[in-house]
Amino acid sequence: MSKITLENITKYYDENLILDNISLEISDGEFFCITGPSGCGKTTLLRIIAGLDNKYYGKIYFDDIDYTDLSPSERNISMVFQDFALYPYMIARDNISFPLRLKKYPAEIISRKLKSTVDMIDLEVENYLDMFPKELSAGHRQRVATGRAIIKDKLGAILMDEPLSNLDARIRMNTKTYLKKLVITLDTTTIYVTSDSSEAMALADRIAILNNRRFEQIDTPYNIYYQPKNMFIADFFGTLGINFISGTVKDNKFYFGNYQVDISDYSDKAIMDKIPGEPEIILGIRPEDINFSTKPSKYGIKAKVDLIQLFPPKANIRCRIGNFIINVICLSKDSIGIQKNRDIYLDFNKNKILLFYPHNEELIPPARSAS
Ligand SMILES: Nc1ncnc2c1ncn2[C@@H]1O[C@H](COP(=O)(O)OP(=O)(O)O)[C@@H](O)[C@H]1O
Ligand SMILES: [Mg+2]
Repeated sequence: MSKITLENITKYYDENLILDNISLEISDGEFFCITGPSGCGKTTLLRIIAGLDNKYYGKIYFDDIDYTDLSPSERNISMVFQDFALYPYMIARDNISFPLRLKKYPAEIISRKLKSTVDMIDLEVENYLDMFPKELSAGHRQRVATGRAIIKDKLGAILMDEPLSNLDARIRMNTKTYLKKLVITLDTTTIYVTSDSSEAMALADRIAILNNRRFEQIDTPYNIYYQPKNMFIADFFGTLGINFISGTVKDNKFYFGNYQVDISDYSDKAIMDKIPGEPEIILGIRPEDINFSTKPSKYGIKAKVDLIQLFPPKANIRCRIGNFIINVICLSKDSIGIQKNRDIYLDFNKNKILLFYPHNEELIPPARSAS
């Protein structure tokens, strides 16, 4: 396994700038996720790290050794592709052992390594090994592709490009769990690309968010979720994204419509210092950080229920406050009897409120700690 360093990577396709001066250091043995919207350049970056694309500016180091000019086979890495890229005319066994056969390993070593690999990828029933890719389910094809990636000796890193995107939801959940276990067992540096932010949250030691040709934030899943650097990131993570409301600030309170929200915990001094007067700002509150009541209360914010979506054991109550649409996540049993068009009264958890500057959409650093 290796430490991987990217230094000032810049990539164009024709005239189009795709990656703009990207730098990054991934530690030895780290499970590192790169995420971002479709088309932001994730595959492009992974192919550069793999050595499959050499038309770019910048440097790549493995363990501080300059690998920029090395071919893919000289890099000691394996890649799992989005479409698995299995050899269709080879049975699973031969697909998995292909990297060793290519290097002309003796048969008994191949057979031993094949056995330990198959154990690791949980390809439960032996006779799957004698099937062709087209005879296997997508979940099993995924495991064969993973097996082929991990069978090699002295792997510096495993690169995975959306390896679960071709699986349906339930299989994806199970495969996610097995992948995490596998990567912990292997203890190999892993760079995992996904456009599914929940996958990144579930798997990564650290996450980098690629957007507008650059990394917008590189941090642990917890820090990214609870201290997102900007509105894009705040909204990108979480099942339903985050609720945004614009309003003004005065005397430790956030005002919108006829309502006010206490932000004294946040300390608005930083806001007042930066934008004098009664600044307009944006409040972000996650759906799971709103409580609701069916009875009015002094500070309850009146909202009209728009629709209810069940995803047991949780439910989403989508409601409206004036022009703002607000999602509230609660336990599904607590949503029983709540009907469309009725009024409910919301209470924002004031420790979880995030505030953003409207001009650059960046987080206003809270005075309180993130805990
Ligand atoms: N071979 C190519 N030639 C020209 N443009 C490309 C090529 N491959 C990708 N692109 C463009 O580069 C951008 C990034 O693509 P890609 O790395 O595949 O994004 P992602 O994997 O994040 O979805 C996209 O705008 C895509 O259209
Ligand atoms: Mg891609």
